[in-house]
Amino acid sequence: MIPRHLAVIMDGNGRWAKKRLLPRSAGHYAGMKRMISLSEHAFERGVEYVTLYALSTENLSRPKEELDCLFDLFRKYFRENTERLVGQGIRLRIAGDRDLLPNDIVEIMREGEARTAGGKRGTLVLAIGYGGRQELLRAVNLAVTAGKQLTEEEFSSLLYTAGMPAPDLLIRTGKEKRLSNFLLWQCAYTEFYFSDKMFPAFTNADLDRAFENFGERERRYGKV
Ligand code: IPE
Ligand code: IPE
Ligand code: MG
Repeated sequence: MIPRHLAVIMDGNGRWAKKRLLPRSAGHYAGMKRMISLSEHAFERGVEYVTLYALSTENLSRPKEELDCLFDLFRKYFRENTERLVGQGIRLRIAGDRDLLPNDIVEIMREGEARTAGGKRGTLVLAIGYGGRQELLRAVNLAVTAGKQLTEEEFSSLLYTAGMPAPDLLIRTGKEKRLSNFLLWQCAYTEFYFSDKMFPAFTNADLDRAFENFGERERRYGKV
């Protein structure tokens, strides 16, 4: 079954590279290529929202050399893909704390969002400089400043994912079985799927298998 909203924790780029005696940067490059193909495949299969965890707030304390490589890849991604997304009717949204990112990247992200704003076929959310706890705290502080108590709907509308349904399926590649500060509020009733494959090795066929497995789940939402 095809989830309406698919979220992916794209983990394992570094270990994928290490196993091949390559630098971690090569793993991130391979991961970016895989990310593009995988998200296109998801939209072709009928997914409406794809949310990808590309850089966490905690990742920002990695060595400068690795961060420089990741930021260069983001620059390349936006440069080479924004028009493609426009052609495909995909709207781009960035989730995360922009104050933590280099100014020029914030600017190209803003341009990418503006350029793709008319996309009707699907929404691609890239979580960059994203942390679930930070997102929740930000929303709480906005509510406190506004001085009022909120409903669940109102609180949701203060999150980066405002206006979007919660993820139906969350896939984490790279063997670990944890959330690592991703979508803490949004995943309350999300189905989880863990793959031992490192992200650059997680194929479109693997995604189809995850969808099949998702189709076998019974979502009860606490009911009988
Ligand atoms: C995921 O791969 C990408 C980012 C976190 C930026 P990792 O870089 O975490 O790869 P591993 O987990 O070290 O293999
Ligand atoms: C999660 O992977 C973040 C992204 C994939 C962007 P990490 O590699 O940062 O997670 P931990 O450190 O293993 O929990
Ligand atoms: Mg990792």
